[in-house]
Amino acid sequence: MGMKRIAVLASGRGSNFQAIIDRVCDGTIPAEFACLITDNPSAYAIKRAEKHDISVSVVSFSDYPDRESYNQALEKAMQESGADLFVLAGYMRLLKPETVRGFAGKMINIHPALLPSFSGLHAQQQALDYGVKIAGCTVHFVDEGMDTGLIILQYPVVVLSDDTEESLAARIMEFEHLSLPLAVKLFCEDRLEVSGRTVIIHDHQDE
Ligand code: GAR
Repeated sequence: MGMKRIAVLASGRGSNFQAIIDRVCDGTIPAEFACLITDNPSAYAIKRAEKHDISVSVVSFSDYPDRESYNQALEKAMQESGADLFVLAGYMRLLKPETVRGFAGKMINIHPALLPSFSGLHAQQQALDYGVKIAGCTVHFVDEGMDTGLIILQYPVVVLSDDTEESLAARIMEFEHLSLPLAVKLFCEDRLEVSGRTVIIHDHQDE
């Protein structure tokens, strides 16, 4: 089986994208990059891609007259990438159900909360506002709902009494940078198997 190709979708800073780049470059993740797709022409993620000669597709919402044409352009960019796996790494736009269906089982997302708690935006602040003692992050397959797809990996992070959104987000981020590359690696090594709502992780790849 050939090496898998991964496309990353990111809207901003792209530190999770960088974590994947680092693990591809050091050989931990057996894959090559198809491209970066971003909705934000000034995303710092673009600089990270350029530094590593990863091609960039900018599909900016404001370049299209309506959501429909924007979505068609996004789907086209995704199809043309020829990627086996699409990684949402801080991609801040909801994908339309049709798009998600078209790439079912090939799209994963990182979310800075222990799902199903605190889906959507500002998950870390939501966790603080709720008063939970354990926060964390989740990597999951993307389905048609918002942050409702099958869970691949989760890591807990203890909430401290003096945490702010920034301090908690920073500690969660350390685990995001471990878990997202690990999930990408497991996918690329064909070690994920879906059974009902459970994603089974196989220890070794069948040779
Ligand atoms: C990350 O914390 C990611 O979990 C979050 O956005 C941040 C992107 O940071 N994603 C979501 O909240 C998705 N709803 P990055 O651009 O440095 O990777």
